Order: sequence, then C-alpha cells, then structure tokens
Amino acid sequence: MSGGRSVTVGVASDGAAPVPGAGASELQVTAVTLEADGVISLRLRDPAGLDLPPWTPGAHLDLVLPSGLSRQYSLCGDPADRTSYRIAVLREADGRGGSIELHDLPLVGRRLTVRGPRNHFALGQHADYLFIAGGIGITPILPMIAALPPDASWHLYYVGRSRNTMAFVDEVVALGGDRVTVLPKEESARLDVARVVSAAGASTGVYCCGPASLLRAVETALDASGSGAELHAERFVPAEPKEDAAVAADTEAFEVELNRTGRVLTVPPDRSALAVIRDVLPDVPYSCEEGYCGSCEARVLAGLPDHRDDILSDEERAASKTMMICVSRARSPRIVLDL
Ligand code: FES
Repeated sequence: MSGGRSVTVGVASDGAAPVPGAGASELQVTAVTLEADGVISLRLRDPAGLDLPPWTPGAHLDLVLPSGLSRQYSLCGDPADRTSYRIAVLREADGRGGSIELHDLPLVGRRLTVRGPRNHFALGQHADYLFIAGGIGITPILPMIAALPPDASWHLYYVGRSRNTMAFVDEVVALGGDRVTVLPKEESARLDVARVVSAAGASTGVYCCGPASLLRAVETALDASGSGAELHAERFVPAEPKEDAAVAADTEAFEVELNRTGRVLTVPPDRSALAVIRDVLPDVPYSCEEGYCGSCEARVLAGLPDHRDDILSDEERAASKTMMICVSRARSPRIVLDL
C-alpha cells in the first residue's frame, strides 16, 4: 500500500471497515488447503457459527498468530459468503517468521485472534481495469475480478516463479478465460511491464500487488507513459525512503492524549507514538512498525497529524481521520487519539 505521487496510490477504506484498533474477535480455523507449492489457504469461521463482518475486495485481516506476532493477509474468498473468510499464506523462509509459524503449526480447530476486515486497496469505478499480480499478490486481486460485472473490460497479468508455485491459477482462468495471462518465469518470457502499461489510458484503473520490484516497475512505466492511468498498489514492504527534509528531521516532541482514559503522553523526538503508547497500552495493535501494514491505525479525534505512512491516500491524509502511529507524528502540539 502506498501514498500518492504522480500516480494515485491507495484508496479510502470501505464503509464496512470497523473502527481502527477495535473489533478484535476470535475465529476458528476450519480448513487448511495446500493451494500451490509453499502456499496454503486457511478457512476461518466464527466458533458459534455467527455471520462474519462484511468485507469488500481488496480488504485484509490482521491475524494475531499463536506466538503473538501480528500479520496481515488479504481476503481471497467470496464476499457474499458471510459464513467464512479465506486467506492464503506464502511460506517465506527469509521472512519475519509469521508465515513459517502458520505453515508449521497444526491449525485446524485452533482459534486465532483477528482484527478487521479493513480495506486500503478497494476496487474503484473505471472504464477498464488492468490487474498485475506477482506471486501471492494474486490474493486481493482474485475477489476483485470476481466482483466485476460480466461485461467489464479488464485484463490480468499474473506472474510467478513457476506454475506450481502460483496459487489460484485455475480460479482466475475460470473467471477470465483469455482475459487472464499467466506468466510463470520458468516457461514464458518476462512480463513486458512497459508495453502492458503503455496500453493503459486515462480511464484505466491499474491494480498491482506483488513484490517491491514489480510495483516499482509498474510505477516507473506508468510515470514514463504519461497516460494518466490511476495506480492502486498494495505493498508488503515499505515504499522507497522519503527524501522530504521535513520528514527527515524529528526535533520536536509532541503530546498524545488517549481519549478513553484522558492520559497525556509525551512523544520525544527519538521515539514513535506507538512506542510511547505501548508503555501504557501494551496490547495496542501493530506489526510492521514501518508504516505499510495498517495494523496500528488509530482514529484521530483532534490535532493535526504529520502522516508518514505508505498507506493513506491523499484524500485520507487531508481528512486526517486516522493515522498510523508507528511512523506518523504531529504538526500540532497535541493530538487526541481514540485509544
Ligand atoms: S505497524 Fe504497520 S503501519 Fe504501523
């Protein structure tokens, strides 16, 4: 997920999203399915069989793993199915440990704490759509293409290492037929991002999810094309470092008021608001601590945030109803949060 530059990246949360930081619930894993080499899917249900909160394509869940780690996974099932959620997990040997834990633990029957769904990658209205998915980045794209009307104009390019490591190929091909181009590196030429993107017009919505290198290539190609197409990207890693001098220097402390208790905390220049808040609220949600996962999003009740995340759109920054407390700071002496 990313903030906007010459392209528009990230879109507003959908109306179904719960209050940030609230809405934790326990869901039960009812099935684990091997979807491809190194990729499993999990089915999650309410233990009492209650309907689950609604979601829209592009939404994700925050999952609290048995170890206490918090990770985000895109929902890749059917939004009309209120009885279960489906997520998919790629085993990342060099990751931060969450995926290995999910792959290695016996999960069926286990209850996991879940927050959300939340959506910072929602599907907008466009005359036509260009989807570009890399590897496990297919997960938010799958429900997007399933949600489009039958006569919608769209094309999906799905790239991966090899066909047997690419999850949901059959599902996306069944949905799109020749509107889907599957490009496993082992058996086909690399995706010509510049050529594909150059076909996008000003009325095209470009949706991209995958590795940082793919997102970078799509952004660069779109900038070079000058097409005016709108890019919506979901990141699993932070965007490029920001060079804004105002962002670089943290010389000012500011105050955070926690609305639910009235406590006022001082955030010194060398600590994040999240770190200071965790001193008194150790259960406040967070994961990446780098401004790209959205776990720590907090509702702003008063004050002016200095947004430094890679998630909020320009419109959301201007509205400043929420902020990512792991990286964002304050432009006003005090900020009041709904915590
Ligand atoms: S912890 Fe990931 S955005 Fe703050």
